[in-house]
Amino acid sequence: MASKKRVIVVGGGLAGLACTIKLAEEGVNVDLFSMVPVKRSHSVCAQGGINACNEIARQQGYSEWMHFDETVLGGDFLADQPPVLEMCNWAPRIIDLLDRMGVPFNRTPEGQRALRLFGGSLFKRTFFAGATTGQQLLYALDEQTRRWEAEGLVSKYEFWEFLWPVVYEGQCVGMVAQDMRTMQIRAFRADAVVMATGGNGLIFGKSTMSVICTGGAGSRCYQAGVKYGNPEFMQVHPTAIPGEDKCRLISESARGEGGRVWVPRKPHDARSPNEIPEHERYYFLEERYPKYGNLVPRDIATRELFQVCQEGLGVSGGNMVYLDLRDIVKEIGREKVLAKLEGILEIYEKFVGTDPLAEPMRIFPAVHYSMGGLWVGFKKDQKTGGLKFGEPGNMMTSVRGLYAMGEANFAYHGANRLGANSLLSCIFDGLFGGTCVRNYCGDEAKVAAAHVAQTVYDAVVKQETDRQNWLVGNEGTENPYLLWQEMGKWMTEHCAVIRHNEKLEATLSKCQQWKERYGKVKLSDTLMWSNQNLSFTRALRDMIVLAEAILKGALSRNESRGAHYKPAFPERDDAHFLKATIATYDSAKNEPVISYGPVDTSLIPPRARTYGKKEGGAVVAESVAKT
Ligand code: FUM
Repeated sequence: MASKKRVIVVGGGLAGLACTIKLAEEGVNVDLFSMVPVKRSHSVCAQGGINACNEIARQQGYSEWMHFDETVLGGDFLADQPPVLEMCNWAPRIIDLLDRMGVPFNRTPEGQRALRLFGGSLFKRTFFAGATTGQQLLYALDEQTRRWEAEGLVSKYEFWEFLWPVVYEGQCVGMVAQDMRTMQIRAFRADAVVMATGGNGLIFGKSTMSVICTGGAGSRCYQAGVKYGNPEFMQVHPTAIPGEDKCRLISESARGEGGRVWVPRKPHDARSPNEIPEHERYYFLEERYPKYGNLVPRDIATRELFQVCQEGLGVSGGNMVYLDLRDIVKEIGREKVLAKLEGILEIYEKFVGTDPLAEPMRIFPAVHYSMGGLWVGFKKDQKTGGLKFGEPGNMMTSVRGLYAMGEANFAYHGANRLGANSLLSCIFDGLFGGTCVRNYCGDEAKVAAAHVAQTVYDAVVKQETDRQNWLVGNEGTENPYLLWQEMGKWMTEHCAVIRHNEKLEATLSKCQQWKERYGKVKLSDTLMWSNQNLSFTRALRDMIVLAEAILKGALSRNESRGAHYKPAFPERDDAHFLKATIATYDSAKNEPVISYGPVDTSLIPPRARTYGKKEGGAVVAESVAKT
């Protein structure tokens, strides 16, 4: 039986759908909002797979605990450990559930769900559906959501954009959103709001993320007073196709299936890769990391690729290395490779024009994932070390009744996410968190949204209408798309793979200029019908605001940890920085204030991350890092 409780879920990706399904199962009414048809949410782009321990891996000595250990080590110990443990413990059940929903996981000849290798693990523990795993998972959850829609518990609002949370006496009681076709701005009441709005890669201009991944929704919550965690931690994926418009992911699964990364040993070698014999190829990841080879975690692989190109060893001396699948074709044959990787091979052939099974792919790192996001709390279960089931405080932001799930929050991945843990964290957040949200609505919410005065909602609608009117009427000279491109270029050059304090400071000064220049933006389209120009330009301000938090977080963190690498401070410094960065928005000054919060490392003590690196012929010791 449906309750009178109503929850808004913003975001139609995996986290949003999983949460919607769980809430509907619990009898809660859900209004589900998405900027795009939910089947086009950015989760659709996830390729390689989803991690979990299973019986076959277990027989080889793997366990949920090892998955947990790999994840916290992969994240360079910056993630609170209880949520990570709970996620890894849930993972096998999540795979079973997805299987029952009909996800077409690849199978072994014996009919078992197949597994592949992925970065940061020596065990095969990644389930996959070809190289379109995100798409298959999204479609399965979409079907379940439709079922609840048909039952009347879920109302879908596609092509609606979140504009601002409605906060009354410190409690989130709804939100204001815009219909992206009619441009109507209106308020929606809810007993809780769940932000499942993904990452913010567009701040870096070109990335593997979709064009809706501006981080605008998270930034608006942050500007409304919600704390933002670890903004400076951005993942740069090692293998993407650089493009004029955007970068396209070439999944880590290519390496998981045996793809090898190399550059010609001879700098500026002009020969085609097919003419370069094996002994003249430099398999730099395999030589430097014999234990993990091409499957070192992404932060490490990306830095190595970047470094090799900086040293002038990239293909033709440029920013490109080879990703070679020819050995796997020889080993298992073209058909079997296609069965596992066709999704990405098609993308490569379409956008580059060569057959990636006949000639090595040319790839380079690209911004891919935000480890940082809205700060969320958790309640540890002292008995299990994981999370207390159903506790309303899990996944809740610093504003009561406002939750964040999936890539939109900062939990699980610390300083660097392991590949194929993102689909897991999204679905875990939604399924585990749904019950927590339900309990919050039932027991903890001090005010029922239905009893809040209409004037509270009207005030936020007016705020957003005024903002829009300013934007539409502004007679400036700045082209928002050029301003965005400039910001993206600066952020990518100075705040991505390698960070120097002088460059971060220079970019922060630029950021002050971007803020000023934003005051002069002019829309090229001012019609009030499907105005994407308006939506993008509004989000540009939010991107600049978040860029400043990313830059300040990066500047303040004088150490190297996971994806955050400063050559001037090459070591992890646990004594000073084993803590979460918390950005709070100072609205009077329009700037972030950086502070730090504790990290729960109660289950696994921090240790060095060497991944069997070889230096000067010897393997680097896994000693405990500086504390
Ligand atoms: O490389 C990939 O297939 C991406 C997976 C992920 O980001 O988890």
